Amino acid sequence: MTDKYAVIGNPINHSKSPLIHSMFAQQTNQDISYEAIESPLDGFADTIARLRAEGYKGCNVTVPFKFEAFKLATQRSGRANDANAVNTLIFEGNEILGDNTDGAGLLKDIEKNLKFELYFKDALILGAGGAAAGVLSPLFNAGVGIIIANRTLEKAQALVAPLEEVGTVFAKRYEDLAGRSFDIVINATSTGLSDELPPLPDGLFKRDALAYDMVYGKETPFLKFARAQGATVIADGLGMLVEQAATSFALWRKVRPDTQPVLAAMRSL
Ligand code: ATR
Repeated sequence: MTDKYAVIGNPINHSKSPLIHSMFAQQTNQDISYEAIESPLDGFADTIARLRAEGYKGCNVTVPFKFEAFKLATQRSGRANDANAVNTLIFEGNEILGDNTDGAGLLKDIEKNLKFELYFKDALILGAGGAAAGVLSPLFNAGVGIIIANRTLEKAQALVAPLEEVGTVFAKRYEDLAGRSFDIVINATSTGLSDELPPLPDGLFKRDALAYDMVYGKETPFLKFARAQGATVIADGLGMLVEQAATSFALWRKVRPDTQPVLAAMRSL
């Protein structure tokens, strides 16, 4: 029998996840279906209840439901607890297992696909919303020193508070960045979606620096800025999207798909 999965979000119509998972399923000979489901903003718990009643095996969760998914899970992974958010649910009997594969997806994309070494590098994360929260701990655990800059300083401060004791994670305003430079600058703001650019000073990128925008499918103003400022490696978030999907797929199906052909296929679309 075909095992059913889905991605839940609002809006969800532009999601690339069904295509990615169907390629994974074909490649690994898994008999699954995977659809995009738009949940009403005030009806996430009901949507999950319906999926469970209909025998779905699990789902991905995207904006704006990752925190609700976290709360709904009856068991949570360490990664989910670190991010305070869940992007992968596994339905197992009476339990709803919640995990978060976003950070692992970013790390895999940077280290494996872009072949960029993270250990002992300095990173600047722009933004302190859900996207930033999901990748902070994984980057920190990979040995990266981190500054988080955000328009609203308090949100960045709240994110770094649990890690602050260790002394290599700091919260700043954009205007505090003048005169600093980084090996890695990750845009985790939503500015790429609206073709805006956070107010960044010149000189942010060290030699051979990586500029990464978590928005995918276009060269955002941030990536254009990074290119003009001399960043060497320029990446959008498509690799992260495919890698986080692969990790979710592996959790559900116990087989890890090869992401290279899928990423190449997605790029050629
Ligand atoms: P997501 O889940 O995608 O992270 P979010 O939680 O709404 O979405 O967070 C959006 C992030 O983009 C925030 O860090 C926001 O900054 P504020 O916390 O100060 O609002 C940031 N952002 C959005 N538009 C921005 C802009 N024009 N300039 C700078 N930062 C912006």
